[in-house]
Amino acid sequence: FQPKLLKGKRVLVTAGPTFEPIDPVRGITNLSSGKMGYAVARAAYEAGAEVTLVSGPTALATPYGVRRIGIQTAQQMHDIVMAQMAAQSGTDIFVAVAAVADWRVANASSQKLKKNADGSAPQLVFEQNPDILATVAALPKPPYCVGFAAESENLLQYGEAKRIRKNVPLLVGNIGHDTFGKDDNQLVLFDAGGHTELARAGKQELARQLIAAIATRLGK
Ligand code: C5P
Repeated sequence: FQPKLLKGKRVLVTAGPTFEPIDPVRGITNLSSGKMGYAVARAAYEAGAEVTLVSGPTALATPYGVRRIGIQTAQQMHDIVMAQMAAQSGTDIFVAVAAVADWRVANASSQKLKKNADGSAPQLVFEQNPDILATVAALPKPPYCVGFAAESENLLQYGEAKRIRKNVPLLVGNIGHDTFGKDDNQLVLFDAGGHTELARAGKQELARQLIAAIATRLGK
């Protein structure tokens, strides 16, 4: 049983990897499974929230009760999230869990790339994707924004710095960079008051603890 800590709240969650095309059949992605983001969406629904999940390609089933919008690219994720932000119904809480590609291929081909007879390889040119979390956090009336960070070292130092740089009240750090695809995780919560470590546990259990932590902070 989970108390209805977010009853009546509208929650938007991003999850999974993004996929950046190189040509119609190839692309660049990452190893995010989407498990943590889906667990957050499920926990928010269980806590009584109305939940929208904007997800990159994953193998996961849509959590019961959650509205899922599937996207491929970071730009599509950005556009859907910003449309949700502009919607009349409003968003109370934004949890950015997605592993968004930092760059897209600027010279993606509309036709499948062919091997060159001379053996030369195609040259990809990258351009930066929008930072969805930072864009939402910079809105005149932002929802309560929660970011995630996967760092391979100096998490305590980088976590707090990232929280301030993205200008979000709560940032969640993954301890260790081996979380991708795993069923359990270890998290540190960074807020203006400092940091709190959550003991290693399953992603669904951690998502419930995170939702409780968000509800506590919203209530203050
Ligand atoms: O800067 P970094 O990618 O480590 O930040 C991670 C956090 O920012 C995550 O919450 C992620 O979902 C979000 N993010 C985003 N848009 C991007 C890059 C990251 O929303 N383009």
